[in-house]
Amino acid sequence: MNTQGTACITGASSGIGEVFARRLAGQGYNLLLHGRRKERLEPLCLELQQRHGIRAEYILADFSYPEGIRNVEDRLRGVADLEILVNNAGFGSRKSFTRDAIAPQETMIHTHVHATVRLTHAALPGMLERNKGTIINVSSVAGFLVGPNSATYCATKAYITSFTESLHLELSGTGIRFQALCPGFTRSDFHARLGFDTSGEFFRNFMSAEEVVDTSLRSLKGKRVICVPGIRYKIVVIASRLLPRRVYYRIALATRGSRLRKAE
Ligand SMILES: NC(=O)c1ccc[n+]([C@@H]2O[C@H](COP(=O)([O-])OP(=O)(O)OC[C@H]3O[C@@H](n4cnc5c(N)ncnc54)[C@H](OP(=O)(O)O)[C@@H]3O)[C@@H](O)[C@H]2O)c1
Repeated sequence: MNTQGTACITGASSGIGEVFARRLAGQGYNLLLHGRRKERLEPLCLELQQRHGIRAEYILADFSYPEGIRNVEDRLRGVADLEILVNNAGFGSRKSFTRDAIAPQETMIHTHVHATVRLTHAALPGMLERNKGTIINVSSVAGFLVGPNSATYCATKAYITSFTESLHLELSGTGIRFQALCPGFTRSDFHARLGFDTSGEFFRNFMSAEEVVDTSLRSLKGKRVICVPGIRYKIVVIASRLLPRRVYYRIALATRGSRLRKAE
């Protein structure tokens, strides 16, 4: 029998979101899962219900459009025992800003920024009333970085990290816990969707989605707001902050994307 309340996870049809769903179902949370791929979400809900005796439902919504975000928002407001919200839905891009059309750039802003802001805003009143709740916003190491061909990705992820830290301060002293989860390269559908052949050694060295999620959930027991899984990515974040900007730009221009390009 469930005693933990409900966890809502966006982008739960694969990768990091799916692992959050599996882990939280294992801890006894009922689930409200979001994504666009019914063929992934339906069997996942059935499997987790049978395996863990929890209630799992899914909602299909495309965050490229305001209506998609609003549908999930409305559903979220109706969850009386919402305990955890994981704003995870997202995707990458490998095109130069000037060569890409504006629509995919806007879709990224809708998915990373608008959805995170609107769902957080919808979740907080109930959590504050109960003085209890956790919001994990999935950002990225890229949010600490800048680089060519990643302008909107880096900027939207920087927004998520900053937004999360500010809310943590604004609501300190309440029972609401915030985390900005900032993974580095992680094995999921993310890179295959960008057209990379992910069978090579470069991709095998990525962190697993399980490692990322387990680090996030462990880190909730401590006080840190920003969670960067993996020592190598912690070093990247520290180096990006310490290096003089001129040196940083030179390295970013020389290396950004080059390892991924080799992996194509
Ligand atoms: N993989 C990495 O190296 C990495 C590194 C740092 C941060 N991240 C972040 O981690 C999060 C999860 O990514 P992942 O690596 O687990 O990739 P993934 O396996 O591709 O999962 C992405 C999830 O986001 C959903 N999604 C994507 N675009 C959407 C849209 N327009 N509307 C609604 N849902 C959408 C997808 O749902 P459907 O396909 O069912 O629509 C899917 O469930 C993302 O925010 C990503 O930026 C990933």
